[in-house]
Amino acid sequence: MALRAGAGVGFVEEMSLKAKEQYFDRWAGRYDGFWTSLLYRWCHRRLLSHVLPPAEALDLGCGTGRLLGLLADRWGGMRGMGLDLSGQMIVQARLGNCHRERLDFLQAGVQPLPFADGRFDALFCTFSFQHYPNPEGVLGEISRVLRPGGRFYWAEASPRTGQARLKMTPGGIRLYSPECRAQLGLEAGLGCAAHHQLFGPVLLSVLVR
Ligand SMILES: C[S@@+](CC[C@H](N)C(=O)[O-])C[C@H]1O[C@@H](n2cnc3c(N)ncnc32)[C@H](O)[C@@H]1O
Repeated sequence: MALRAGAGVGFVEEMSLKAKEQYFDRWAGRYDGFWTSLLYRWCHRRLLSHVLPPAEALDLGCGTGRLLGLLADRWGGMRGMGLDLSGQMIVQARLGNCHRERLDFLQAGVQPLPFADGRFDALFCTFSFQHYPNPEGVLGEISRVLRPGGRFYWAEASPRTGQARLKMTPGGIRLYSPECRAQLGLEAGLGCAAHHQLFGPVLLSVLVR
């Protein structure tokens, strides 16, 4: 049984999470189609060049699990966990998992994260943080499950300043400028190590516990 996705959030947020779950469930079977692959997987490859070798990785909102697959191809000793709100995304991720002895996938929400304190040395979140209704709460959880010195790799579109709210997908999305990301990280005990432009407006921010 899936862990309750909305645990730790209020009623309205829980409704929005339910709507997002259904939206991504419907998309899952087609997610690795040509256009999505072109953008997302290109960014995954660009991101790889900024990653320090991870031992124990967690991918938040992992979708069909392609990023973890890529990381596991690159680092033979790495173990990884992918977590996603959408059960259908997790079905696709398990079907496409070429590293079953090292990678596992779990249907769950990001708040709270169902892991012990300090379990991971690397956390990834590509094109998913923008969907989270409570960014402060999620960053608190990210900080909690990271080891001291562990890194959070956060990649998605980023406006130049402030926050941008767009009415895309149920519940909308929120995008954060580099300064906003750094400030939100700081409040959760994460220092900003670097920002890297991956592709067009897609920015990778590296936050360190
Ligand atoms: C655009 S997809 C990105 C998937 C993948 N990270 C990638 O780079 O291709 C966004 C994913 O975030 C997941 N997601 C959205 N809100 C979530 C939440 N609160 N908890 C966990 N996953 C969530 C969705 O189910 C979806 O699979």
